Amino acid sequence: MALKFPIFMDAQSTTPCDPRVVEAMLPYFTEKFGHPASRNHPFGWEAEGAVDAARQRIASLLGARDPKELVFTSGGTEAINLALKGAAEMYREKGNHIVTTMIEQRAGLDTCKRLERQGFEVTYVPVRPSGLVDVDDVGRAITDRTILVSVMFANNEIGTLQDVAAIGKLAKARGVIFHTDATQAVGKVPVDVEAMGIDLLSCTAHLMYGPKGVGALYVRRRGPRVRLQPMLDGGGHERGMRSGTLPVPLIVGFGRAAELCAEGMPEEGARLARLRDRLQDMILSRVDEAFLNGDPARRLPHNLNISFAYVEGESVLMGLNKETALASGSACTSATLEPSYVIAALGASTELAHSSIRFSLHRFNTEEEVEFVGKRTIEVIGRLRDMSPLYELAKEGVDLKSIRWKAE
Ligand SMILES: Cc1ncc(COP(=O)(O)O)c(C=O)c1O
Repeated sequence: MALKFPIFMDAQSTTPCDPRVVEAMLPYFTEKFGHPASRNHPFGWEAEGAVDAARQRIASLLGARDPKELVFTSGGTEAINLALKGAAEMYREKGNHIVTTMIEQRAGLDTCKRLERQGFEVTYVPVRPSGLVDVDDVGRAITDRTILVSVMFANNEIGTLQDVAAIGKLAKARGVIFHTDATQAVGKVPVDVEAMGIDLLSCTAHLMYGPKGVGALYVRRRGPRVRLQPMLDGGGHERGMRSGTLPVPLIVGFGRAAELCAEGMPEEGARLARLRDRLQDMILSRVDEAFLNGDPARRLPHNLNISFAYVEGESVLMGLNKETALASGSACTSATLEPSYVIAALGASTELAHSSIRFSLHRFNTEEEVEFVGKRTIEVIGRLRDMSPLYELAKEGVDLKSIRWKAE
């Protein structure tokens, strides 16, 4: 089949909406437009029924005992904010300390920074070079003032899967609430809030082939019953935790997306891991000084993150972006180009943190696309290195660290 350009391999930024999801959503924009809180007529009952069915499907994907444990939000960012701020405020009398990691997504890190400004203390546990957090380090960080542990399930850059079950067990033993940002994991790898001892879990539809603008926070109701201070005041929807009219079409799409992920997960995961491994082998066998970031085994099946020494990640993207959509670890923020804090947290040099490229595959990627992207990446890296004086010096055996750069 002819390739269609540009090829999308940036599925950890967002995923395409599955056409079956769109099909399920469409009637809820037009003929089935009722308000789910309109309890006194059929339009409302229909909308409420659709929301209940979607809630059930998502709860089942998460292994939740009761669909009422789900609170719909506008996405992962809001779910994380509600989990952290809601728990911090609710349990402030009990303590003011939170334990998290250095590689959380910005929604987690920035919320913690805000809480610090409000008088909370936060411990940011480092990770090993593989990107895995040491469960014992989490244990050592917990004090008798700790009210919450928040560790992401899967990292958005390097795909590393934390030992969530061990952290859940530890948190339970120490009587601390455990939140996990599972936005990258739900629908891709098995998640089970009961078996893994998760008290709060954030997820989002647009990373699992659902629509943008809807997410959910799982809030445990039993053993322990977790309570949260709401962030929004209003009609008291979602058991008082998140006021606001529910976006019924988006929720229906989220539910259908959850159902499709549950049905296809083992085959889809295995297929994407095979394609990812092919891409990885192609690149690593043909490009020297290319380093795999993250844990080679404990990672999402569709994630591949490689640092290419002597080239800037942004230059690689520019060389490829007419044909292929990928992501670099460098985030262009205002005037400065910041290196990836995730790659830096693995202990990599600033140069390598600047040179990381994330390939993330999705349900609709094909083998031909993988072959094309692998081949073009190798070509572009080769071309950039041909123009790189640093690469040339390094190949001549010059120790770049010994060079004194001086402007005459
Ligand atoms: C790990 C992680 N957490 C949180 C979010 C935020 O989710 P949303 O875009 O739904 O607000 C993302 C989004 O990419 C993410 O990758």
